[in-house]
Amino acid sequence: MTEDQKLIKFQQRIDADEKIEPKDWMPEGYHKTLFRQISQHAHSEIIGMQPEANWVLRAPSLRAKKILLAKIQDEAGHGLYLYSAAETLGLDRSEMIDMLHKGKAKYSSIFNYPVLTWADIGAVGWLVDGAAIVNQTMLAKCSYGPYARAMLRICKEEGFHQRQGYEIMAKMMNGTEAQKEMAQDAMNRWWEPSLMMFGPHDTDSPNSKDSMQWKIKVESNDRLRQRFIDRTVEQAHHIGLKVPDANLKYNKETLHWETSDINWEEFKNVVNGNGPCNHQRLSHHIKCHNEGQWVREAALAFEAKQMSNPATIK
Ligand code: 3HC
Repeated sequence: MTEDQKLIKFQQRIDADEKIEPKDWMPEGYHKTLFRQISQHAHSEIIGMQPEANWVLRAPSLRAKKILLAKIQDEAGHGLYLYSAAETLGLDRSEMIDMLHKGKAKYSSIFNYPVLTWADIGAVGWLVDGAAIVNQTMLAKCSYGPYARAMLRICKEEGFHQRQGYEIMAKMMNGTEAQKEMAQDAMNRWWEPSLMMFGPHDTDSPNSKDSMQWKIKVESNDRLRQRFIDRTVEQAHHIGLKVPDANLKYNKETLHWETSDINWEEFKNVVNGNGPCNHQRLSHHIKCHNEGQWVREAALAFEAKQMSNPATIK
């Protein structure tokens, strides 16, 4: 088959909603954008553990501490699923992490904002994981088998992450005036950055056209963002939180909540490394990765010993 014939056959498979598996023929562009997106998704999960980890010792109760610990452990698992899914495309996770450390790979801008109060932990669970659920539920229909299957497992845990965050916000909005102010302050700071998680507008998205044609994305950035807005505004109002947008209004014709446009200058600034915590997040990741070198070496030495003497493998 010629390259053109392979391309036609590949697109026919995509159009027929077949799953593409690692050993299948795929166009270089499909491979490249999948590797970019899945590895960056994995980086986001791991870096996203940092802001929450800072609050484990300051959680207001043993119950809250246990829930936060469970969530952080889930995020680590999500990162490992996604690095494994990315490795099916032929690159080792050490190369992906090297790209991250050298600034050649991104992670979600949302994790470059500081988590200042316990209400922020609620806002992160409710808004960040809430946005992730909308996006990842769509990605579970992705044409690439390993990514779609990883999403199915991850989405099961995201529901718990979102609900525990919303519970924290609901409790605080049902608490003292000071707690209500703390929750509203967190809402004010996390609302817009969580909208940025869906990426630029469809018209400004260089990757969306191909990703939609190849069904890596089956719904667009703006469509998913709107779904998140419609769902989250109602949740905010239900517990008495104000959405920090003077232009917020409900359109009775479209049945959607309309919002101000996002501050794309801030988005670009944070994505380009100038957010409040970019330097801290990356240097902490590099420090921990280097400190963990001995663990990786010990695991490889153990594997080599096992492989040299298969009789010892249980
Ligand atoms: N932060 C950082 N970079 C972003 C971004 C964000 N919020 N939104 C978009 N970008 C980048 C894209 O990566 C792309 O840059 P690149 O070509 O160098 O990779 C550029 O901006 C243009 O964006 P596009 O819309 O054209 O790119 P995509 O088609 O890849 O769409 C995306 C962007 C919607 C973020 C998509 O990559 C995606 O769905 N990624 C997987 C989901 C993900 O990464 N979620 C991040 C959070 S993980 C999380 O919240 C876990 C939870 O458990 C806490």
